[in-house]
Amino acid sequence: WPAFSDDIDAILALKRKRNAVILAHNYQTPEIFHCVADIVGDSLALARKAMTVDADVIVLAGVHFMAETAKLLNPDKTVLIPDLEAGCSLAESITAADVRLMRQRYLGVPIITYVNTSAAVKAESDICCTSGNARTVVESLGVPRVIMLPDEYLAKNVAAETDVEIIAWKGHCEVHERFTPADIHELREAHPGVTVLAHPECPPEVVAEADFSGSTAAMSDYVGREKPARVVLMTECSMSDNVAVVHPEVDFIRPCNLCPHMKRITLANIRAALEQNRHLVTIDPQVADRARRAVERMLAI
Ligand code: 13P
Ligand code: SF4
Repeated sequence: WPAFSDDIDAILALKRKRNAVILAHNYQTPEIFHCVADIVGDSLALARKAMTVDADVIVLAGVHFMAETAKLLNPDKTVLIPDLEAGCSLAESITAADVRLMRQRYLGVPIITYVNTSAAVKAESDICCTSGNARTVVESLGVPRVIMLPDEYLAKNVAAETDVEIIAWKGHCEVHERFTPADIHELREAHPGVTVLAHPECPPEVVAEADFSGSTAAMSDYVGREKPARVVLMTECSMSDNVAVVHPEVDFIRPCNLCPHMKRITLANIRAALEQNRHLVTIDPQVADRARRAVERMLAI
């Protein structure tokens, strides 16, 4: 990618100089994902791998909650996010006070929070989950009823697969809530035989029409394993771009939705982050200890 080579060369040199690693989510653009990232994956993989990072500096190419999770698991390392405004509509949909109210309202019912939340929200919960382990986490608690916050659709999609009753919140991902069953019908008509994969943040009616639903890593693994001739990923646009690079034999159909938060991260601001040591991710220690417990409890499963 010659257009990016200046920034790529500078970032590779800065990583060596600062003993830094770049963790990149699957929704990062291909020049970040394939050219400068050291560790890539879904939210669960990024959290797991953050625990074993051997570096002084972590740059999180992703959104703010991911950087907070990396900081929770690496309190003594410098964790940088290239743009502080890289948020998430799910994380915005709930506050720590909301979680405390839910606890009062449903006394004794364990609270599972999706990792797409602030550290303050995680601190009020019993355990975290990601899209890759939500059902496992729900069933690990051994209780008939749980609260799962804040993604209503993820909660409903998991509820369809388990006997555990799930009390949901009304948060939605602004990217995935826009997919509809009609989109899938049109795709199947226009591209006969197409395999449809949907992220579990999509509405349940969309997941019901899909051939497979799973986290971003699970969708990528599915393509590698099943090698469908034609596939559509009902998720953020960069997913198809990144997976297509390694599977040129698969025909990717691309109606997709962009995540404006993920797209705030660029090669230019990753370079600036490493050059100027910005933006430092910090978490109030009192919040951090409780939030870390919820994340570590998830990772221990
Ligand atoms: P994954 O954990 O599946 O990568 O999802 C993260 C996310 O933000 C999806 O919108
Ligand atoms: Fe949040 Fe949705 Fe963007 Fe993922 S795709 S970071 S859930 S807004």
